[in-house]
Amino acid sequence: MREDSLLKFISYLNCFALVCVLFIAGAATSLFLPPPDPPQPNTAKSTAILKEQVDQTSISIWQPPDSTKIENTPEGDLIRYGRELVAHTALYLGPKGKLMAISNGMNCQNCHLKAGKKPFGNSYAAVAATYPKKRARSGQIESVERRVNDCIERSLNGRRLDENSTEMRAFVAYIKWVGSEVPKGVYPNGAGLLELPLLNRPADAAKGMKVFEVHCMSCHGLGGEGFREGNSPEWKYPPLSHDNSFNVGAGLFRLSRFAAYVKSNMPYGASYDNPTLTDEEAWDVAAYINSLPRPGKDLSQDWPDISTKPFDHPFGPYADTFSEQQHKFGPFGPIKDLQKKN
Ligand code: HEC
Ligand code: HEC
Repeated sequence: MREDSLLKFISYLNCFALVCVLFIAGAATSLFLPPPDPPQPNTAKSTAILKEQVDQTSISIWQPPDSTKIENTPEGDLIRYGRELVAHTALYLGPKGKLMAISNGMNCQNCHLKAGKKPFGNSYAAVAATYPKKRARSGQIESVERRVNDCIERSLNGRRLDENSTEMRAFVAYIKWVGSEVPKGVYPNGAGLLELPLLNRPADAAKGMKVFEVHCMSCHGLGGEGFREGNSPEWKYPPLSHDNSFNVGAGLFRLSRFAAYVKSNMPYGASYDNPTLTDEEAWDVAAYINSLPRPGKDLSQDWPDISTKPFDHPFGPYADTFSEQQHKFGPFGPIKDLQKKN
């Protein structure tokens, strides 16, 4: 090689190395970046909408019982063990679980925030008061045990727990304790999720990707695959998609559940009375996340009566003529109106 072309080559190499260094530094800072600041109050408009919703649905919001009052009895011990299992499921039942490996490594608490005690954080407030109850998905009367196993099979993409095991008895004792101050038959304000008003357009996954990049990616990872510290069996930021996430039979795979969960709880630190995202952003990010790959599930036994499928169930057959696409992304208004009419 001639000397000047050699020099040129070397300077190319230098440029390349510099780009590499910049890229690695960029990736490293984003990995080790602390979680973003607590969410800022939302725009006046969406706060106003939210207030209206909350005022409509609630006079007072349910609060969980005082855990320091759990008694020092064998029953109290079972409740405390149940709380531990909800908060740290992966340590006991995950792929490297101390007891058995029957679930995907997420914790119940990843979705049932503060171990099911956060109002509208997918709370367990209504369970003690409303179970056993008939559920349309199975067409059967379901006990709390059965409902817990549903989440293990779907949200934790796992295998059912023996209903007579100590662990199942502990889950149930704890979940019933959370709702123990709610009168029988009452569905308190703060139970489950706060419903979001529907959009009058389909939710938009492309817009949702932008929301994800701004508000979610720093914790949940580039492709929503989650983040662990070192070899920890628990996620620091749980996966939203791909192999380690909930499967297509899970509640969060329905757009209205995902959007409602996110609006009142994410980015982490948001709450029903201090959300970060607008309603549109919550629906759009739901469309984006639920378009990413995730585990499948045999759903052939679900919805024995298809006329009871919720408006946003993403798989046919349906009792109406709306497409799977519309049942997955909306607009849901026309579907709901028809369901009301029938
Ligand atoms: C990936 C998220 C996710 C995980 C993880 C998860 N769940 Fe759920 N769970 C949900 C959703 C979504 C619902 C339904 C909410 C709705 O339809 O309003 C639900 C509902 C429930 C209910 C019924 C609540 C009610 O008021 O009817 C119980 C009980 C429950 N889960 C227990 C558990 C237990 C125990 C675990 C861990 C073994 C668990 N869940 C893990 C998302 C999750
Ligand atoms: C500051 C970090 C952070 C940010 C930003 C964040 N999350 Fe989360 N997210 C978490 C943590 C931590 C949990 C688990 C909570 C727990 O275990 O107590 C979680 C749980 C979840 C869950 C339920 C569990 C699962 O993996 O399915 C969903 C869904 C979710 N986040 C969606 C989002 C979306 C969408 C955004 C953006 C709008 C977002 N998150 C932004 C930290 C974050």
